[in-house]
Amino acid sequence: MNWSVNKIPSQKGRIALITGANSGLGLETARVLVEKGATVILGCRSFEKAHSTIKKFIDSKSDGSTEFIKIDLSDLRQVKMAAEQLRMRHRRLDLLINNAGIMAPPRTLSKQGWELQFAVNHLAHMALTLELIPLLNQYSGSRVVTVSSGAQFLGKINWDDLQGEHLYNRWAAYSQSKLANVMFAMELHHRLRKSNSKTSSLMAHPGLARTNLQSTSLAANGSWQESVAYKLMTPIFQSALMGALPQLLAATSSTAKSGEQYGPKYNFKGPPRLCRVAPLALDKSQREKLWEKSKCLIDSLEVNSN
Ligand SMILES: NC(=O)c1ccc[n+]([C@@H]2O[C@H](COP(=O)([O-])OP(=O)(O)OC[C@H]3O[C@@H](n4cnc5c(N)ncnc54)[C@H](OP(=O)(O)O)[C@@H]3O)[C@@H](O)[C@H]2O)c1
Repeated sequence: MNWSVNKIPSQKGRIALITGANSGLGLETARVLVEKGATVILGCRSFEKAHSTIKKFIDSKSDGSTEFIKIDLSDLRQVKMAAEQLRMRHRRLDLLINNAGIMAPPRTLSKQGWELQFAVNHLAHMALTLELIPLLNQYSGSRVVTVSSGAQFLGKINWDDLQGEHLYNRWAAYSQSKLANVMFAMELHHRLRKSNSKTSSLMAHPGLARTNLQSTSLAANGSWQESVAYKLMTPIFQSALMGALPQLLAATSSTAKSGEQYGPKYNFKGPPRLCRVAPLALDKSQREKLWEKSKCLIDSLEVNSN
């Protein structure tokens, strides 16, 4: 039998932080978890958007509840501040869903001057996770779910030009950031196991789901060819809820284990199932190299602010 939200046990008592919870997959994930009784912290960059999300989509009669925390992932300083606020507000965190993302904009820089897709999709989520591990580690059964993409299989890490300074291809940069998501999540899994941590690290990808990702991308890059392509691809897109099922499964199923990735049965669409990760994420030395390089960039913030 295919997995569906009906299989999710009560989430009462669980506290979850979801980045990008005001739209698309993050919104569906938040909605379902609240329905199942969780306290969901909407990690969004705009209070207004998060608030209208709650009003429109989240059933006020649900067992669960929502909170808001401001996180702009394009500024690492804000990410660290958000983690600090969360540590002050809560003694535990059961679930962190690294979901927010951007896709294929023209080359843009984050607040710290890094290529925006690498910074938002990968570096900010790595920084957020590392800041929150002590909180996650309080209780066994806590999980980090990192949302990747089928683009992980097309991705390469451009070690000589990580930030696309010399040659920027926006799709290659997106694939690189989504490969970085799984390399990070796999490395986190290994490090957590080595330290006998109670926290698990899992991955999920949605296949192709109709969300604001495509329209936001088109608005930024203005490509009519991509606009036509998305129209032609309409039959293969699934709903945002179907796209959110792999991350909901990874976040809640008692059979889902650390180091596993879930994605749609038929690659682009379908019910969620266990699936393989990009080969580079299985390469220990490449994973470690990315971890160290990323950690250096994240830590450079502290050095620069001293
Ligand atoms: N939809 C698909 O077919 C598909 C396929 C593969 C992978 N994915 C992955 O799925 C994840 C969710 O995407 P989605 O499809 O649900 O797209 P979406 O509807 O566009 O949602 C993306 C979310 O990320 C947030 N976000 C973007 N930049 C941010 C920043 N600097 N700081 C904080 N939040 C930021 C957005 O906030 P705003 O509303 O404020 O912009 C929004 O809440 C992404 O990681 C994406 O790569 C999606």
